[in-house]
Amino acid sequence: MYYIGIDLGTSAVKLLLMDETGRIANIVDREYPLAFPHPGWSEQNPSDWWSAVCDGIPALLDGFDAAQVRGIGAGGQMHGLVVLDKDDNVIRPCILWNDGRTQKQVDYLNDTIGTELLSRCTANIAFAGFTAPKLLWLRANEPENFARIAKIMLPKDYINYKLTGVHCTDYSDASGMLLLDVQHKCWSREILDICGVTEAQLPRLFESWQPVATLTAEAARLLGLPAGVVVCAGAGDNAAAAVGCGAVGGGKCNISLGTSGTVFITSDTFGVDSRNALHSFAHADGGYHLMGCILSAASCNKWWNEEILRTTDFAAEQAPITPDRLGTNDVYFLPYLMGERSPHNDPAARGAFLGLRMDTPRAAMTQAVLEGVAFAIRDCVEIARAQGVEIASSTLCGGGAKSPLWREILANVLGIPLTLPQTEQGPGYGGAMLAAVACGAYPTVQACAQALVHAKSTTAPDPALVEKYNARYAVWHKLYPALKASYVEMEALQ
Ligand code: XUL
Repeated sequence: MYYIGIDLGTSAVKLLLMDETGRIANIVDREYPLAFPHPGWSEQNPSDWWSAVCDGIPALLDGFDAAQVRGIGAGGQMHGLVVLDKDDNVIRPCILWNDGRTQKQVDYLNDTIGTELLSRCTANIAFAGFTAPKLLWLRANEPENFARIAKIMLPKDYINYKLTGVHCTDYSDASGMLLLDVQHKCWSREILDICGVTEAQLPRLFESWQPVATLTAEAARLLGLPAGVVVCAGAGDNAAAAVGCGAVGGGKCNISLGTSGTVFITSDTFGVDSRNALHSFAHADGGYHLMGCILSAASCNKWWNEEILRTTDFAAEQAPITPDRLGTNDVYFLPYLMGERSPHNDPAARGAFLGLRMDTPRAAMTQAVLEGVAFAIRDCVEIARAQGVEIASSTLCGGGAKSPLWREILANVLGIPLTLPQTEQGPGYGGAMLAAVACGAYPTVQACAQALVHAKSTTAPDPALVEKYNARYAVWHKLYPALKASYVEMEALQ
């Protein structure tokens, strides 16, 4: 028996075929374009995602018996606004999670509506990437498109709609819309009213592991799958990654170094941090989690290597960064290439290198990029620690986790051991696991994780290095406040 996991990412969809023992039988990637139509904006066409899935799944099944596929589960990039008209046609490109156009709407929600009401109704406050401010932006800037909206959904929900014909979402992903009453797992009427939308325009809510429907005849034909394949509701990519890395049940942590960087802290019970600095969302295991999200993580390293150094050999760039160089770098990097979400909530923030000298080598700048992302992840961890949340260790996933050097830097910057699971396919593996639960192969997400997720290796921090990084983090941490006023001035000149 096989289960298909879909990781609907920002640069590509990653598809994996998992057998009932949890072994990954095949993996296929299909890339799609990402558009930045204005500085700080970020959009994608939902039809590109669907084409990539339709092209990728037959390739994934090539050489395997498609009749053995039982279920499909997706983990998807969160917060993106997908709007469909009354005939289920996409009205405009999806506005993505790392789009910073909604500062005015975020200020309206947080200052005029007020963080107290938002937090009471949704357990969260407004951040630029969240879905509700995007709805307000659409109403103000594209009223003709806003008037045509029959259905609002998130990126992976569009794929699930194309697979099943059902307008559905799950609690983990819906949490990031700022429209869900996270604690009570229902839409917040009060916030829907503020955004000028109705419950009829929103998708049906499911737990992540619940079956939504079987494939439509059309989807089965396009994908080369039997019609009885079950599609589960799936999850936001971070919740799916946490499942795939075994961060289920309370008291666990998973860190993702993907396009974004996230710190995902699980809890059996609902909770909100005192200043709403961390997101308070539902988890894909039926519980809850707190999350900090930095908007540019592995994408900083990709940008530095591919756009600036013009190389795709990331390992060669990291080779000169020998162990004795760790904790000694005098170059600092701020990773705010798309503005920043946690903890600054500032779309105007920008990236920066500081501490450059005439004798600064290229490798010191590469190292600064890896360290700057690690420091930004630490900013999120420090917020959790300040709330009394203990993070003694974490699992790690995402493209950046493949670099042993980056793992070592991060373990020492955070001062905790980081464990890589045997499969590095966080959201895709979690999606396939959710599908296995939906098909009855496991009674719960926890039982599935216990059976399938195993550790591959752990990177332990070295106390002497932790001390050196503590000193450098203290310097780095003061750079954003020092530059904040300049970011405002730069934004005004754009
Ligand atoms: C989480 C977030 C990102 C995206 C990336 O809040 O915005 O991690 O889900 O795909």
